[in-house]
Formats: sequence, structure tokens, C-alpha cells
Amino acid sequence: MTTTLDSQVGSELDALREARTYKRFLTLESPQGPVVRMEGRGEVIVLSSNNYLGLAAHPEVVRAGIEGLERYGAGTASVRFICGTFAPHHELERALADLSGTEAALTYVSCWNANEAVVPTLTDETTVIFTDELNHASIIDAVRLSRPAGKVIYPHSDMTALGDALAAAPRDARKLILTDGVFSMEGDLAKLPEIVELARAHDATVVVDDSHGVGVLGETGRGTVEHFGLLGEVDIITGTLGKALGGAAGGYVAASEEVCDLLQQRSRPQLFSNALPPTVACSALRAIELMLEQPELLARLRENTRAFRAMLSEAGYSPLDGEAAIIPIIVGETADAIALSERLLDEGVFVTGFGFPVVPEGTARVRVQMSAALEPEHLDRAIEAFRSVSRPPR
Ligand SMILES: Cc1ncc(COP(=O)(O)O)c(C=O)c1O
Repeated sequence: MTTTLDSQVGSELDALREARTYKRFLTLESPQGPVVRMEGRGEVIVLSSNNYLGLAAHPEVVRAGIEGLERYGAGTASVRFICGTFAPHHELERALADLSGTEAALTYVSCWNANEAVVPTLTDETTVIFTDELNHASIIDAVRLSRPAGKVIYPHSDMTALGDALAAAPRDARKLILTDGVFSMEGDLAKLPEIVELARAHDATVVVDDSHGVGVLGETGRGTVEHFGLLGEVDIITGTLGKALGGAAGGYVAASEEVCDLLQQRSRPQLFSNALPPTVACSALRAIELMLEQPELLARLRENTRAFRAMLSEAGYSPLDGEAAIIPIIVGETADAIALSERLLDEGVFVTGFGFPVVPEGTARVRVQMSAALEPEHLDRAIEAFRSVSRPPR
């Protein structure tokens, strides 16, 4: 039976196909790693995952998850305040607080949820929110869920605009500045030193989503905040466990005891949604320990990023500059970015193309992401694919 809704939805899907923005799920038949087996494709080199430290299928991360599952089962079958919490959640939260340089941390089933917890919970009737125009969709939605007295979307990393907006806000307003640490589509870093200085001058609170910074930046992988020497100076950090820190799923808020306590009391994704599965909590904890025990992982990620940027430039591409492990190559039109990503996949390299509306019209791109798990031979094979697709067809 086809309902009216089905046919309307069908037309919407047709429009996506016509615009060539329809997304397919590609099925992986092996664990995430530098090379995966993809259904219908065989082995492909992965240059599009957030598996920055290569820990997603690390034997010790897997083993920790299995032990967590065996010891605690699948979960509490309820939210934490109703049915209790497990020791690994507390251990993970302690580790995340130490990692972030904050007093406390609280986990959520995703960073999406963490952002949707923090922003509405900390918004009162006086609050003015200042948010970078290129912040992640989860921050945009978190702001939509809040009901601030005022909202300023400032041009990307424009510190003059941010300063002017802060100065124009009522003196007694609660002021929240929201920014990504590493901007996920550009790969550039927030100007955190300036943001922190402006926040101090205007008695504002800084919230940094460091999902793409933690496990990538800073001497010990503590993220953008460590990179800028600001550990202990940023009020609130949110992050994901679904990228460098194990790659399963899960998110967190790291902040003062008071803020974490209020989030535990009031934030809706905490009060009305289950805890992180213990297997994920145990795997993520082991991933954090491995990152700290094995600094060579970070060193390899950085070396791979430096080397592949240079290889791309030598092959005639112009990747955007950046210090993180995201290397965007602007192509222009959405259809061209998708076509480039398909041609690369034909050559055995998995890189995703992004177009409008994920990025502004005319700035479609393929986004290369590095991993510590990639070996020099993977990079050599990958660059050969980039060279081959840029040659005119024979
Ligand atoms: C900056 C940023 N914040 C939040 C998220 C969402 O993270 P999660 O998958 O844990 O919900 C992402 C994931 O893409 C992200 O890039």
C-alpha cells in the first residue's frame, strides 16, 4: 500500500537523486582500519574515517569491550538515575575529566546528545548565545532547542564580530560562546586564545566541541585546548568517543563539578535516555589509556598528515591548510565532488565527497582524513589513485 506520505517522500528522494546528493551506505565486511573489505568492491584504503589513532579495532580496545560486556551485560536497561550506573562509567568520566583538564565529566550516548544537553540546560531567560556560523550541526540544533534571550551567529572565526557582539549584549546577561575546536568541514582550528580572552573581558562562558581535536592535537592528544596551552582555562569541553577515542560511539561534557551536577539533574538526554553501554565505556577507557601510554600513535598520525598533505600538493591538488588531521580539497560543484569520490573508490580509495547543504554552495569538496593506522604503502597507493583520477581519460 502506498500512502500519500509515501509518495510525497518518494518525490523528495527523487529530488535528492536528481541533485546527486542522495547518500548510499557502503557496507563494510571487515573492521574499521587502514584497509577495509567493502561489499562489491573488495579491499579499499580508508581515507574518510575519524579513526584518527587507529584504535577502533585495536585488540586491547576490543578485549576491554568484551570484558565489559561479560562483566556487566548489555546495559542497565534504563536511565542512570532510575536504574543505577556501572563502575566503568565513573572510571571513564574520571579519565575524561583528567584528559580535559576539568574537575568533572559526564557521558552521553553521543556528542550530539552532549551538545543538546549542555546548551539548553545552561540557557536561562537572560542568556545570549554566540555561535560560529560553521559550528557542527549538533550545536546548531542545540541552540534551536534552547530559548535564549538573544542569539548571535558570528561569521566564521571573526573575532572582531564576536567582540562587538559581546560588547553589545546586556551586561547582566548570561553569555555562552559556542565553538567547534576543529571545524569539521574546513579542518581549521578555532581561535581559542582570542575567544578565551574575549570571554574573560565580557564575563562569558566558553563551550568548545573538540570532537575532531581530542586524540589529534596537543602534545599528549588532549586536543585543541592543549594545543593552545589552555588546559584548565576553557569552561566546558564536549567531545565524542566515536572518533579518535575508540570509534564506537558516545560523547561527554567535561566541566566544573557544579555544571556536571546540574547536567545530571536537569539535562534531558541524561534524564530520559539510557547510559552508554558498558562495553563502549570500557573500550573508550582503554583507548584513552593507549593514547597516553603510546605517544607514537599521535606522532604517526601527525607524520601521516604532514606527508599526505605534501603528496597531494605534489600531485597538483590544493588542500586547505590546517593543523588537524582533516585535509579538505575544494572541488566546487557538488556533482564534481561526488564524481571525484566515486572515481577514487573505483581506484580503491574511500574518500567522501561533501556538497551543499553540508557545505556552502560552490565549495563542495572531498575530505581526506588521516589515521595513525595508515602505513607509507597505503599513502603511496592512495596518492597514485589521486594522480590517476586527475589525468584526462585516455
Ligand atoms: C564537531 C562534532 N561534534 C559532534 C559530532 C557528533 O558526534 P557523535 O557521533 O558522538 O554524536 C560530530 C560528528 O560528526 C562532530 O564532528
